[in-house]
Amino acid sequence: MISEKMQEALNEQVNREFFSAYMYLAMSSYCNTLGLPGFAYWMRMQYEEENMHVTKMYDYIQDQGGEVHLKAIEEPERNYGTPLEIFEETLKHEQYVTSLINNLMDLAVEERDYATQTFLQWYVTEQVEEEANVNDILAPLRMVGDDKGGLMMIDQQLAGRAAPMALPTK
Ligand code: FEO
Repeated sequence: MISEKMQEALNEQVNREFFSAYMYLAMSSYCNTLGLPGFAYWMRMQYEEENMHVTKMYDYIQDQGGEVHLKAIEEPERNYGTPLEIFEETLKHEQYVTSLINNLMDLAVEERDYATQTFLQWYVTEQVEEEANVNDILAPLRMVGDDKGGLMMIDQQLAGRAAPMALPTK
């Protein structure tokens, strides 16, 4: 069982994870307009990953006897600038999500809600990976700058991203 306050906080996070999915889908479409199919594919996989984050939290709220309250999803931007700026924005966004997960963990600790602390630990670890993945892409992007050949090489590498693991169906 979770408190009403925790239920609302988790519902808010479900909304933020939905927004993340929405934003990455918008970025994927934008990357296609730049003629960078590998970047677009990476962002599409990131969209899938965020959907998995949503579903995992959605299931947890219900497993704990809580109610899911789905709210309106904010409209994402349409233009994300250069390939480097896209990934700078991605890092900024993931750092923001990390801060949201940390706030949720603070609440779980404050409420002595051990089950939610254990549940959130997965997201804490996931955020380390999310930020590291983006930093790994930012490093070569900063190196190549505007060089078209360099960008094409990175595009090919991003096209090789593995699809996220599917969650077991309930
Ligand atoms: Fe769900 Fe990218 O954090």
